[in-house]
Amino acid sequence: MCGIVGYIGKLKATDVILNGLKKLEYRGYDSCGISFLNEENYKYVTYKTPGRVDHLINSYDYKMNNFIGIGHTRWATHGKPNQVNSHPHSSASERFIVVHNGVIDNYKELTARYLQGFSFISETDTEVIADLIENFAKTMSTEEAIRKTLSLLEGSYALLVMDKEKNDTIYAAKNKSPLLIGSSDKGVTFGSDLMALVGNSDYYYLIEDKTFIVAQKNGKTTFQAYDIIGKSVKLQQHKMDLADNEIDKGGYEHFMLKEISEQPAVIRRIISKYLINGILEVSEKTKNLFKNKKRIYILAAGTSMHAGFIGRFYFENLAKIPTEVFIASEFAYNPPLLEKDALFVLISQSGETADLRTCLVNVKKMGYEVLTITNVITSTLAREADHALEIYAGPEIAVASTKAYVAQVTVLAILAYVLSEEKPFDLAFELSRLSVAMEAIIDKKEYIEKLVEKKLKKRNCFYIGRGIDYYTSLEAALKLKEISYIQTEGFAAGELKHGTIALIEKDVPVIAIISQKAINHNTRNNIQEVRARGATTIIIATEALSDSADDIILSDVHEFLSPLLTVIPTQLIAYYKAKELKLDIDKPRNLAKSVTVE
Ligand code: G6P
Repeated sequence: MCGIVGYIGKLKATDVILNGLKKLEYRGYDSCGISFLNEENYKYVTYKTPGRVDHLINSYDYKMNNFIGIGHTRWATHGKPNQVNSHPHSSASERFIVVHNGVIDNYKELTARYLQGFSFISETDTEVIADLIENFAKTMSTEEAIRKTLSLLEGSYALLVMDKEKNDTIYAAKNKSPLLIGSSDKGVTFGSDLMALVGNSDYYYLIEDKTFIVAQKNGKTTFQAYDIIGKSVKLQQHKMDLADNEIDKGGYEHFMLKEISEQPAVIRRIISKYLINGILEVSEKTKNLFKNKKRIYILAAGTSMHAGFIGRFYFENLAKIPTEVFIASEFAYNPPLLEKDALFVLISQSGETADLRTCLVNVKKMGYEVLTITNVITSTLAREADHALEIYAGPEIAVASTKAYVAQVTVLAILAYVLSEEKPFDLAFELSRLSVAMEAIIDKKEYIEKLVEKKLKKRNCFYIGRGIDYYTSLEAALKLKEISYIQTEGFAAGELKHGTIALIEKDVPVIAIISQKAINHNTRNNIQEVRARGATTIIIATEALSDSADDIILSDVHEFLSPLLTVIPTQLIAYYKAKELKLDIDKPRNLAKSVTVE
């Protein structure tokens, strides 16, 4: 959601920025723009457009030499996704140019207090930031004016600022919204995500909240970081270990299909990361967090919340710790009555979800300990928790999460298993077996494509299951609606008859998931009920529980791990339906990969 890229150095800035913006497309956006200094006449150029970065690239001329610029992909919050509201925004006299991620909560108050007489071109809170800087710069240096502005802003921001009177400098600041710096002997790059820095940075630096950065080209390009009162601070340097080929499609038509196909390898990578001397282990620090805890509260959003439901099953059935799962955006403002001796487990692929950040701040204030389970160990939620566990899914680019979900569930299984006193089965062995079963169903993807063509013909659909198959139904339904825009609901199979069965009519697809022996019979009864009302059914079952007429038969795996297998055909169903409808699979409408606003 919203992406920022800025560059100053020896390379052509527009190349670095446009390339970086392309890499941030996966986060979700609806308009984009770029500003840079044309070295030939020393005039600043701004190009903006609704729609995709490719449109920004193809519609304008980038032939002129340039070494400094800032760019942005915008996911509309204040005002429509049109050209005027796209970033960069300029101050009234056009001296300052700004890109901004986040939301300024008090922009109306600041406008009333400091910007009487200013008129605004856009509907955005960002334009107010540019004008505040301009207003203060009348009597202060640029740095002081920016710092004064920052001291007044309430809310979240990652900001890049250029001053037309200082052609050799980019100013940056952040609070709550992510921003990183990349550096190499070729220059300094800013990005709201590590991906934007890949390819032209040897090192990267994480920026703490309320830090102010000045990057300058003076022969060599260097940067300096300051805290809010202007004291110089040192940022910790990290070696860049991502390469460009790790974030390309690798021959697949879409990132989503690539990521679905990577899942068996992800399982094997996780085993290798958590296997110590042949035994699955987590650190003492992780284990200590669970000591004397009477309850676990899992907080998450979207797909990660569905992983949380399976996590609850593991914590309760393996580690024997009562566990509850909450939607982060609900918990943030309506928390339940809480157990005193509890641990909060936050699950987030990106580690940047704003709803979760609010929860984290709230529960830390209440004195609780927090463990974050994430794919991005450098993320805000990882850094601000007491401890973080990495899921090792590798970069996930498609907006619809697949391999990160599977990685989250796998790490939750490992964690609960390590915490369990009796180890009822050999998890490492069962996970390896699972990865082979996953490969087998991925190999049958063309069969699933045909099944989708034949049976999924309506604009609505239902997934049903019981127990952990119900949780998979929720995730399966989310996946199908996210990328095919077909209204899909996940239901507890037994609950359908208490109302929703009224929606079943001729040819409505009902997809049933069966992987639990104890409830096989019951789910099959529910399938008969919907068939009797004309539904077209697709049955996904594990081999031992299958009937020869079932549509998708999966290899048998340990019942506890079946959610990791049954979810794969549902991901493929969603993928092929969206493909048949010729939709933008990796970047579905209105959605963002990393949701950094509440
Ligand atoms: C967005 C994404 C979902 C994701 C959710 C939570 O809505 O589109 O795929 O599940 O955010 O994101 P997180 O990064 O916290 O897992």
